[in-house]
Amino acid sequence: MTATAQGSVGAPLGRLEGPQKVTGAARYAAEYPQDDLAYGWIVPSPVACGTLDAVVVDPLQDAIAVLWHGNVPALAAVDDPELAVLQSEKISYRGQPVALVIADSLEAARRAAQTLSLSITAGEKPDTVLREDHPGLYTPETVNPSFPAESAMGDVDKALKSAYIAIDEVYSTPALHNNPMEPHATIARWDGDSLTVFDSNQHPSGVAATLGEIFGAANVHVVAEHIGGGFGSKGTARPNAVLAALGARVTGRPVKVVLPRQQMFSIVGHRTPTIQRIRLGADRDGTLTAIDHQATSQSSRLFEYAEQTAVVTRHMYAAPNRRTGHQLARLDMPTPRWMRAPGEAPGMVALECAVDELAERLGMDPIELRIRNEPAVEPESGEPFTSRHYVECLRRGAQRFGWSGRDHRPGRRREGDWLIGTGVAGATYPTMVQPSTARVRRLAPDRFEVAIGAADLGTGARTILAQIAADALGVPASAIDIKIGDSTLPVASVAGGSSGSASWGWAVTGACRALVASSSPEAVFDTTELVGKQGTAGRHAFGAHFAEVRVDTVTGEVRVSRLYGMYAAGRILNPRTARSQFLGGMIMGMGMALHEEGVLDPAFGQWVNNDLAGYHIPAHADVEEIDAEWLDEHDDQINPMGSKGIGEIGIVGSPAAIVNAIWHATGIRVRDLPVRLDKLL
Ligand code: MOS
Repeated sequence: MTATAQGSVGAPLGRLEGPQKVTGAARYAAEYPQDDLAYGWIVPSPVACGTLDAVVVDPLQDAIAVLWHGNVPALAAVDDPELAVLQSEKISYRGQPVALVIADSLEAARRAAQTLSLSITAGEKPDTVLREDHPGLYTPETVNPSFPAESAMGDVDKALKSAYIAIDEVYSTPALHNNPMEPHATIARWDGDSLTVFDSNQHPSGVAATLGEIFGAANVHVVAEHIGGGFGSKGTARPNAVLAALGARVTGRPVKVVLPRQQMFSIVGHRTPTIQRIRLGADRDGTLTAIDHQATSQSSRLFEYAEQTAVVTRHMYAAPNRRTGHQLARLDMPTPRWMRAPGEAPGMVALECAVDELAERLGMDPIELRIRNEPAVEPESGEPFTSRHYVECLRRGAQRFGWSGRDHRPGRRREGDWLIGTGVAGATYPTMVQPSTARVRRLAPDRFEVAIGAADLGTGARTILAQIAADALGVPASAIDIKIGDSTLPVASVAGGSSGSASWGWAVTGACRALVASSSPEAVFDTTELVGKQGTAGRHAFGAHFAEVRVDTVTGEVRVSRLYGMYAAGRILNPRTARSQFLGGMIMGMGMALHEEGVLDPAFGQWVNNDLAGYHIPAHADVEEIDAEWLDEHDDQINPMGSKGIGEIGIVGSPAAIVNAIWHATGIRVRDLPVRLDKLL
């Protein structure tokens, strides 16, 4: 399609790199040819706790090197203890890298790794299971990234006691695993003191800084041109990057480390299981008088990652008496980390299912109940919303989905063996920006190069940045050469927290405007100061999810016949790529509701279904009718483009909409995800 000057933003431009990807020309981290390349294979710990005392290499195997804590150079410590790979005899979880075998071929490395003899002193019986009454539970100081762990207003207990109706339920969500199509992969090469790393990550600038610190290297070049998904698991450097660089340093050869799918279940961060207690008190007319959301989750021995599960409840609905809190247990398990909408996704499962249960008890339409409790300002901060069109999403979404006339009693619609039901749930995600710097150069009178160290996870980031630059320069998008995915470009923030387009787009807009205003051929713009002046309160995207399901009364199988999202997420920069982001989030929400679950062997601390045969995700056949639409929302208080984040909101609330629809179909409340068929029989 042709983009016209002053009109690129908002046009459904196809991904600029699309042809490269479909012809196989686009290079992913593991695909950069290197002379004299060696292959590294990570040896995972077979126990959840203990010490590694010795490693004996089978002399018949062709390993170039076997690295373990007994023979590797010391690395500088960084904030993330998980990156201190092979630095200690201590084993903190099953699957933790305890050695790296390097060989001339992948097969030789893997074979040598499999025949390695590890002398391990196993620890006591590992503590691997999160329970609501786990003796090790404590309240962390803050939750991810820096919210207070607790909040309280009014008198919740008193309000619950005197409420016309009170709900008190416990919801649980399982461990979920990041499975981007492209696994984590690194090729590392040293040229003297300079380190070049081809690495699949969401943050080239950040990964370069971290590796520089770990290896004391001033010159680190991270190339991350094309990324096959990340979901948060590639937000920071992972052990594969450190191991590849370490292996390359020791052997003097370029070393490639690609995680097999099985290792991704333990090394790259998973979504913590949660146990959440929700209490709601309401008047006869549905006005909430009390909200209490207490979340229990887990972290590892190595690292305190405290997920912000209940934070979302602080700004969703009005109520004078309210309380949120988080409890954490440190287990002999891998460290949970970011996975698409960490906090909001599991938190809204509990809150939005509980609101549905309250609607049932009140005999009220669940949409009306939500609208009745719409807050005028952000309930806990008292700050105004920069924009909030939640009610409009519910109303307009209901209209588009066809909600009116719904019989709110469960189990009333039946077609043959199938029970049919519909459900709704709210969606929200914080609107964030982070400091970034962009550079623009005039290459010719009608040709511009825009450069920023951003990462494109396949979402269309580079395309959107070209559109933003085109409008700021007053030229068509085809006049822009966009350079991203490289740490030698101007420093950019992580492709995470749904903040990429807003953060990078702001820097790009600034640089382009500066170029237009000057006569010089180049302009650089750093948003650090501007972003620093922004608060965080009152900035959120909203949405509403609707689901129609059919449940087979004979087998318990659930089919999602329709899934629909209506969003108010600021200005939509590119409707084609935005729609894909929304739909992707909703499909992942379907996985969360029905399919995905890390199954734990508690004796070993092992995720036993650690591949895509055992870990079920929605396939094409699971997705029937699905659509996403949005309101034309204008918000001039957030960034020059007026855009909010859209990468994560699709997975927030969509699982609850499905679970609520299952109740409507069957009358069965499943409060423990996923809704496997055995829970409906
Ligand atoms: Mo996302 S979990 O912020 O990469």
